[in-house]
Amino acid sequence: MNNLELGRADLLPGAQLIGEQWRQASDGRRLDVSNPADGRVFASVPDGSAADARAAVDAASAAFASWRATPAKQRAAILKRWNDLIVAHQEDLGRLISREQGKPLAEGKGEVLYAASYVEWFAEEATRANGDVIPAPVPGRRMFALKEPVGVVAAITPWNFPAAMIARKIAPALAAGCTVVCKPAEDTPLTSLALVRLAQEAGVPGGVINIVTASRERTPEVVDVWLGDSRVRKITFTGSTPVGKHLARRSADTLKKLSLELGGNAPFIVFDDADLDAAVEGVMAAKFRNGGQTCVCPNRIYVQDSVHDAFVDKLAARVGALKVGPATDPASQIGPMINERAVSKIERHVQDAVARGARVVVGGRRLQGADLASGNYFAPTVLVAATADMECSIEETFGPVAPVTRFVTEAEAVAAANDTAFGLAAYFYSTDARRIWRVSEALEAGIVGVNEGALAAEAAPFGGVKESGYGREGSVHGLDDYLHTKYVCQGQL
Ligand code: SIN
Repeated sequence: MNNLELGRADLLPGAQLIGEQWRQASDGRRLDVSNPADGRVFASVPDGSAADARAAVDAASAAFASWRATPAKQRAAILKRWNDLIVAHQEDLGRLISREQGKPLAEGKGEVLYAASYVEWFAEEATRANGDVIPAPVPGRRMFALKEPVGVVAAITPWNFPAAMIARKIAPALAAGCTVVCKPAEDTPLTSLALVRLAQEAGVPGGVINIVTASRERTPEVVDVWLGDSRVRKITFTGSTPVGKHLARRSADTLKKLSLELGGNAPFIVFDDADLDAAVEGVMAAKFRNGGQTCVCPNRIYVQDSVHDAFVDKLAARVGALKVGPATDPASQIGPMINERAVSKIERHVQDAVARGARVVVGGRRLQGADLASGNYFAPTVLVAATADMECSIEETFGPVAPVTRFVTEAEAVAAANDTAFGLAAYFYSTDARRIWRVSEALEAGIVGVNEGALAAEAAPFGGVKESGYGREGSVHGLDDYLHTKYVCQGQL
């Protein structure tokens, strides 16, 4: 199976971790993993079952008492070792990410450090889960608010950042004293297994992290077990809004705590007082990272009338020069999309936009060729004359397509930006200090980028409003999502 030329073959365990043991699926079924660049199967993992999901909760539940009682400093030391191991294996992990997810190797290696930054951050936060001593309103009492781990956490992660999303969920859970059952996306299970292998090596005790890999068909039976089990006290999920709503509905019976990082439909506004070159670079960073397959990608670009044409010219020149190719080619800046379904959706959005009056300035089609064997490639695209009724304005395209709309007034741009059910990220470029505060406050989003396209950082709270979900990842708030507050009142003093 080690045809990836990894430095360490054991980073591909080909098994799922339940308790102390790397195991096959209860009925031996396997799930093939293919390379989105050429469509070829290059590895396989267990196709986990309901029985495996139950065994994972049994193990996580059994491990909880001793893990929560482990001093925070010790938990922090284990997380620090995990961080160090992730950084030390940047090359192998980067290759795994690129191979199963398709992003160019430099980006894959960048994601490894991004993932590690969350592990390091939460290693440090583990020792700061402080409670409060509350001044009592009556004599003879002492009042305290204690922070306690919520219990067993089920983490369900997406394919677009196979390392970072696992790290962003498991690290705060462990820092808080929770134990975890995890199901990575069916397209990208390998990176998560490698990370869990390194966590084990770092000293995470058996049962504290359990991972079940499952195919698209078997995912519902695995997740259903976790949703129905009252020992699972929290679900943390990154993925689509319909799935997030399903998880919220099904968590109601056992009233689980939820963190839902769901779809975005990010607006990106360029005002006429903006530094246009900086705004173009902002779109390049935010829109074309990971081939446009991020929840925080600008999906709708609004440009003020007087700078519209100059902006589009500059953007089209940059986008037209992007090099598309397989992750293995060091020159590639945009890799393949994750699968055929993803490319079909992008194609549908572009065709719908054109049918409704948009014009393709650059790109606009699938790419084929000898080095683009899988057919999962789409040309980086700029559209103009995008309107609110187009599919690309209503839902995330999740691909390298930048639809541009002309606007006249600030009020018009802000109203258009907020005219969506979603509210994850929003961006704008302006040099007017008063406008900057006015628009930052008016945008309905959990994350706002002002004159900046690269926003995510381990020290910052990441999450949405409206139908983009709730809960925050990263920052002090990211730890709090795995804790509850217990009030202790001592009387008769
Ligand atoms: C996501 O697409 O869900 C995460 C993007 C990021 O971490 O910047």
